[in-house]
Amino acid sequence: EADLESKLPLKGKKILVTAGPTYEAIDPVRFIGNHSSGKMGFDIANEAASLGAEVFLVAGPTHLKAKNSLIKVIDVVSAQEMYDACHLHFNEVDAAIAAAAVADYRPKFVADQKIKKNTVEFSIDLEKTKDILSSLGAIKKNQFLIGFALETENEIENAKLKIQKKNLDLIVLNSLQDKGAGFKKETNKVTFIDKNFEIEPMELKSKESVAADILNKVILHFSKL
Ligand code: CTP
Ligand code: CA
Repeated sequence: EADLESKLPLKGKKILVTAGPTYEAIDPVRFIGNHSSGKMGFDIANEAASLGAEVFLVAGPTHLKAKNSLIKVIDVVSAQEMYDACHLHFNEVDAAIAAAAVADYRPKFVADQKIKKNTVEFSIDLEKTKDILSSLGAIKKNQFLIGFALETENEIENAKLKIQKKNLDLIVLNSLQDKGAGFKKETNKVTFIDKNFEIEPMELKSKESVAADILNKVILHFSKL
């Protein structure tokens, strides 16, 4: 019994994870997207499941496959679909980790037919998408809520603002300055900042190892309850 608990410290826990990019339709054949591969979120989901957690993995368009039967993948395309899927499951989970690169804006109108080229210049009106993580922070009860932050200036200050604005327990700040960190890479250089603004810079390491570090924070949180 004690042995099982130490090997599967998240057994009985449910964790919501978001992963990948979102695609925001322009017309039937075009979209606005980003270069997120989904790897960070899938690594988090795989690590959580290997520690015994039941995982809801809400994933934007990616070719990655989940490796564990404890992971329920919910495929979505747009930010609105990701929002809806997250809210469907948030009430029943013990923790949520938002690793998705959600589009901040989407076309205000989606054309029914493929847009034809004619004028020299062309522009698309955009409107804000809903901030999924903020919306979860606003309704959270006991859920341990973890977000990511990607900043290119005033990193720590901006990340702290995101903790407050989104009511997070922990933020994982991605450092883009370091070569080898970020989109389409196998490695990540992150800094953890908790809700008390305690700052913990981590070494450059594989995304799998970053995932393990994040799940250690989750385990530590549950062990204090
Ligand atoms: N996020 C989200 N829904 C959005 C936008 C972002 O859930 N519509 C989440 C991301 O998954 C990430 C966190 O919010 O965990 C921070 O994303 P980031 O892009 O760094 O910050 P934003 O709040 O979008 O602000 P900005 O892009 O202006 O820095
Ligand atoms: Ca953003």
